[in-house]
Amino acid sequence: MNAEPDVTLPRHVAVIMDGNGRWATGRGLTRIQGHRRGKDSVREIVETAREIGIEVLTLYAFSSENWERPPREVDALMRLLGRYLKTELKKMMRYEIRLRAIGDLRKLPKEILAELRAVEKSTSRNKRMTVQLAVSYGGRQEIIGAVRRLAVRVRDGSLEPAEIDEAMFADALMTAGTPDPDLLIRTSGEMRISNFLLWQIAYTELYITDTLWPDFRRQQFIAALDHYAQRQRRYGKTGEQLASQV
Ligand code: IPE
Ligand code: IPE
Ligand code: MG
Repeated sequence: MNAEPDVTLPRHVAVIMDGNGRWATGRGLTRIQGHRRGKDSVREIVETAREIGIEVLTLYAFSSENWERPPREVDALMRLLGRYLKTELKKMMRYEIRLRAIGDLRKLPKEILAELRAVEKSTSRNKRMTVQLAVSYGGRQEIIGAVRRLAVRVRDGSLEPAEIDEAMFADALMTAGTPDPDLLIRTSGEMRISNFLLWQIAYTELYITDTLWPDFRRQQFIAALDHYAQRQRRYGKTGEQLASQV
């Protein structure tokens, strides 16, 4: 085993999987066919991340705002999620992958939520990698949820406002216990965050590629990781300060 952790390898990679619709319409296919193909990319990226030794992979599968899409598309996405969970469980067990869902899951169709909970439960002891699936997820909504939880404790008298610090706040988020993402990948070229992990990405390295999600496969993922390995994370310090530390 390697004693020294490899700092050029991100522990936590988060991905905004965007561009399924454009991939499909560019080929004269329906948007839903694009989502279907996007599922194959999800499989390949999960396998590759596991192989490389990424600890946490957070995938933005469906945003709080995506509920506003046409009902047919929302339905299709929910059905695809259900099918993904059913077909991938065996592999998650074999590869020792733990699945954890983040988001406002109460909005999910009952049978999809039940499937999600079942997979979370079956994989809860797996230790090699965590896949965090962000579904019905919004960063602002998550922050409001955390504020409410802490406010209740202040009202109860069990918490002083001055005791609230960054670590306590992070613990009140749905991502509690996971390190912040080191690398955020967004496919399909959009230069925005779209309400993803707003608190957690304060010092995350961003990588935006024009590649559309269904075309984002092993090779493209490795290219993103290679880019990350070249970055110098300064956290507000100067390059000279960092050079003198080594
Ligand atoms: C990403 O692809 C998948 C989801 C948001 C669910 P899109 O469906 O957003 O694809 P584009 O952005 O329209 O191409
Ligand atoms: C972000 O993609 C959400 C997911 C990838 C699940 P969108 O396609 O919904 O983002 P916007 O609307 O273009 O910002
Ligand atoms: Mg999109």
